Amino acid sequence: MPSDNQHARALDDAYENVSPSERYKAEGAPSAARHEPMYTVPKLEDYSPAALDGVMQDAQRAFDSEKTQALDEAQDPNLGQLERANAIKSFRDRWVARRNGILAQITSGWLTSAPAQAKRDVGQRVNRLVAVVAAGVEEAERAANLAFFSLPSLQRLDITLPGVQRPIGVKHPVLRVQDEIVAVFKAMGYSVGEGPEVETDYYNFESLNFPPNHPARDTQDTLFIAGQESKPARDRLLLRTHTSPVQIRTMEKQSPPVRIVIPGKVHRNDPLDATHSPVFHQVEGLAVDTNITFCDLKGTLDHAMKALFGSSVKTRFYPSFFPFTEPSADMQVSCIFCGGKGCRKCKFSGWIELLGCGMVDPNVFEFVKHNGYDSSKISGFAFGMGVERITLLKYEVEEIQLFYEGDVRFLEQFA
Ligand code: PHE
Repeated sequence: MPSDNQHARALDDAYENVSPSERYKAEGAPSAARHEPMYTVPKLEDYSPAALDGVMQDAQRAFDSEKTQALDEAQDPNLGQLERANAIKSFRDRWVARRNGILAQITSGWLTSAPAQAKRDVGQRVNRLVAVVAAGVEEAERAANLAFFSLPSLQRLDITLPGVQRPIGVKHPVLRVQDEIVAVFKAMGYSVGEGPEVETDYYNFESLNFPPNHPARDTQDTLFIAGQESKPARDRLLLRTHTSPVQIRTMEKQSPPVRIVIPGKVHRNDPLDATHSPVFHQVEGLAVDTNITFCDLKGTLDHAMKALFGSSVKTRFYPSFFPFTEPSADMQVSCIFCGGKGCRKCKFSGWIELLGCGMVDPNVFEFVKHNGYDSSKISGFAFGMGVERITLLKYEVEEIQLFYEGDVRFLEQFA
């Protein structure tokens, strides 16, 4: 016969050779495997007080030992948070669950089936056991909670962690600059207007003195809404190519004098590059009154540029062409990067082209003549500037695409 020791070693060796899943099946769950065999409620045959005391003691001893095990597990740093929390829960369920908990089994197995004369003895003892178990379970829960909150690795609240950040949204840089431009003109007494982004050919081109098929339309190629062939050309809808149609819309509604700025989104068939986007923003300006001259235009825009870029910036006006202004000009500002000395940004010219402007063409006033716009009595100037272009310059951004990609890392720099 092998000695006990040899027998144990043989068992160990045998265990080495079984797969973990087989071992799991043999032992039950790993936590259970670490402990002694679990308590089961025995059948009672002997109802004498001494026998009852014996089985009650067994039950209580089992309860105490399972409580210790459960508490150990609840505080075992090697176990996951869920397993730790489950240790106490399954311990409680095992003992006090209404259906099939050990106490329920004892009550139904021992008390219900006790002979009449033993009921009293059994009842007293069961009641005592119920009280001990209830108190023990409660104590275990309290101890486990306490342990849970005092284990440093488990502390729910780590006051050294940075707080939850709830960033506050800010205005997009393009809209911010658009508002800034508008504010400069508001301070000069201008009002603010808006117009539709989907515009008719009449407002976008015809009333602005772009005759049908005029080559000037090609510089502002755009998207037409489909399926309008049956409409007269002037009523066909398109995505507006500039904010200038709101000049006419304003003059239709309001007799002179007019001083208005119109911010808004426009669309053009421009290929995308570092400084062009097919969708962009403009701020339009229109001033109509008696005796408005080109000097007023120059003075107004020069002031606006100094307000936007700083008082040392200079402006100059270059002859240009727009069908709706005569004369027309491109306004340039002295290079804000080199101060006019010449650098890569201004292509070594010292100047940067910023906007189109001019005196309102009398042909445009013809379209709103009925509303007090008699070009023999009144005159006006208009201008239109690209907001993205000004934003690129003001913030020294190299790529217009950065404004539309929605990358928070870029945008939050403007917060
Ligand atoms: N609408 C013109 C453009 O988009 C700019 C402009 C506006 C020119 C007003 C003159 C007067 O290019």
